[in-house]
Amino acid sequence: MTIHYDEKSRIFHLTTKNTSYVLQIVREGYVTHRYWGKRVNRFRDSRPIVFKGRPLSPNPDGDWNFSLDMLPQEYPSFGTGDFRTPAFQISQEDGSTTCDLRFHSYRIVQGKPKLEGLPATYTESDDEAETLEIELRDTLLDIHVILSYTVFHQWDAMTRSVRFVNKDQIKVKLLQAASLSMDFDDADYDMLHLSGAWANERNMYRRPLFPGNQSVESKRGASSPQHNPFLALMRKEAGEQAGEVYGFSLVYSGNFIANVEVDQYDTTRVVMGINPFDFSWLLEPGEAFQTPEAVMVYSDEGLGGMSRIYHRLYRSRLCRGEYRDKERPVLVNNWEGTYFNFTADKIEQIAAKGSELGIELLVLDDGWFGKRNDDKSSLGDWFVYREKLPGGLDNLAERINKLGLQFGLWFEPEMVSEDSELYRKHPDWCIHVKGRHRTLSRSQLILDFSRQEVCDAIVEQLSDILGSTPIAYVKWDMNRHMTEVGSEALPSERQRETAHRYMLGVYQVMERLTTAFPHVLFESCSSGGGRFDPGILYYMPQTWASDNTDAISRLKIQYGTSIVYPVSTIGAHVSDVPNHMVGRVTSLETRGNVAFFGAFGYELDLTRFTEQDMGIAKGQVAWFKEVRKLIQFGDLYRLLSPFEGNEAAWMIVSDNRSEAIVFYCKVLEQPNSGFRSVRLQGLNSDADYELVESGETFGGDELMAVGLRVPAKRGDFNSHIWRLRTMDAKSNR
Ligand code: DGJ
Repeated sequence: MTIHYDEKSRIFHLTTKNTSYVLQIVREGYVTHRYWGKRVNRFRDSRPIVFKGRPLSPNPDGDWNFSLDMLPQEYPSFGTGDFRTPAFQISQEDGSTTCDLRFHSYRIVQGKPKLEGLPATYTESDDEAETLEIELRDTLLDIHVILSYTVFHQWDAMTRSVRFVNKDQIKVKLLQAASLSMDFDDADYDMLHLSGAWANERNMYRRPLFPGNQSVESKRGASSPQHNPFLALMRKEAGEQAGEVYGFSLVYSGNFIANVEVDQYDTTRVVMGINPFDFSWLLEPGEAFQTPEAVMVYSDEGLGGMSRIYHRLYRSRLCRGEYRDKERPVLVNNWEGTYFNFTADKIEQIAAKGSELGIELLVLDDGWFGKRNDDKSSLGDWFVYREKLPGGLDNLAERINKLGLQFGLWFEPEMVSEDSELYRKHPDWCIHVKGRHRTLSRSQLILDFSRQEVCDAIVEQLSDILGSTPIAYVKWDMNRHMTEVGSEALPSERQRETAHRYMLGVYQVMERLTTAFPHVLFESCSSGGGRFDPGILYYMPQTWASDNTDAISRLKIQYGTSIVYPVSTIGAHVSDVPNHMVGRVTSLETRGNVAFFGAFGYELDLTRFTEQDMGIAKGQVAWFKEVRKLIQFGDLYRLLSPFEGNEAAWMIVSDNRSEAIVFYCKVLEQPNSGFRSVRLQGLNSDADYELVESGETFGGDELMAVGLRVPAKRGDFNSHIWRLRTMDAKSNR
């Protein structure tokens, strides 16, 4: 049993392999948060709540010593004396927003109930998890609020989500509905978040908490490259390998907020969920609202320990489908090779070169549909551009297949160009405010996926193509953010539901298409890594990490991404030099070495490769195929952070620790510099490992304590890869 309730103390104790989470009902049904962290066998309340009156802190039951303003709570309300950030807010018929939730009942269920219409972690059998549902009720309105807690025992992770049900006769409006609220006893933490911009996604920022609110959020209609829906609180002494870290990751792809508030008494409250800014949700009598899910991970093995827990859970119990546990094909994508300017012959020539290299999949990117020669037209017209591809898609797919490669195709299903047949026919099918100017971005508008008929039309168009052409892979792109947020199909009192309804529509379309075409590998993209979030990973097991393909920029992008997301989900390609984005020239070896740590591929015109390049690339593809299972499904250990210096290093260790791959890169060469080494992690200290390339053997203990000498090379942007295996692994090959 992983969830235990003690009637006497009214304490719920939830446990995973290494963690405990404790909540308690106090006084007249207030559900308090008591503890989250390292597992304790028996929680006997060594740190009881202190009930002590303070000036300016109101007393709900008249007792000077009791105030909600100081109570650590599981799902705090606004209006009854807690002045910190609330978890929710409900506007009522009389215009008031005060609520007073109290404990009503609980139930414990085996497994994990599905979240209707939303992506979420899941179980494959009921014994993998246990779920506690606590029902709260308002003291005046008949509103039921169900807090769900699932513990994944073996995965060492927990999830939280909330469901609001209006059982009353009147309608109410949710103004805020967070997925979780968490009160910590003190504020001695740093906040870590992953923020950036287009082409510079998921940089790591770590800063001390200070009094007041600090947050990351999106108001863009997408989770965004600016801020990822994730944050961690780290104890001051916590680092990559040791120390306490608390991770919060939201399984959602739209507007979100992750807010941390340090209050007057130096306690800390984390609130995470849909961004309440410009959001509301009408609940008619009988209606319900389900929040997205937040995934919480505690680790006392530093950030690395936290990441590995997220990786294992997301790889195996968030990602789904045939490719979840499958090695991902090595691909070549034509985007940076040709942009819009291609012919069927050109694509076939690229595929022919790819075939010589052992590449398994050709992806035809943007420009194959409608009348698309640039980014100004045709989104929404998902039929082949005959003037460009006179033989049609079938013919092209066949030519590619004949070369031994599978065929993949780019779509941007959520968008419409002003210059398109779809827009001319249905100008009201985009997100807009009636009568207002429609702001373009990349010359396009967003389809109103809050409308069922729009979702149906897009599913139909895509199904026609996926059902009639041998397509093995889809790149699902999304290249703008929301403006003039509104839907013509919604009444005025529901306009502020548009952005979330849009997201629900996107999830529905993704669900229908991925279910109807289970053999297709879907990769998501949003101007690169603009929607790299757990919500999308539920439908598509990999995401294009960034439009920035420069190997040196990618050190940070991939390192930052790996804080939450597994290597198998990170799309990474070798591209041309000078790099199209930053103009940097790096060797083909280093470009390959960096791109290996992801869903690997090439993104350039292979017909321009020299004989020498072909030789190197052939070796890369062959090597990668040998090790990709280990890379894509092993445990990641980050060794040197590119955010902290001139080097980056990481390694991947197989589940049974018999094999490992180590990556090292030095950004700029320095004259007359010292001799570097890198200490490994995650190995079996009792085993001997052979360095495959040199044949030398060292103990795991030595490799971790002493480290490997980095070979000195002249020039900038040099990298090195070592492959290690134990004697057992060698003889099993
Ligand atoms: C943005 C993507 O990130 C690129 O990889 C490419 O697919 C373009 N869109 C195509 O328009």
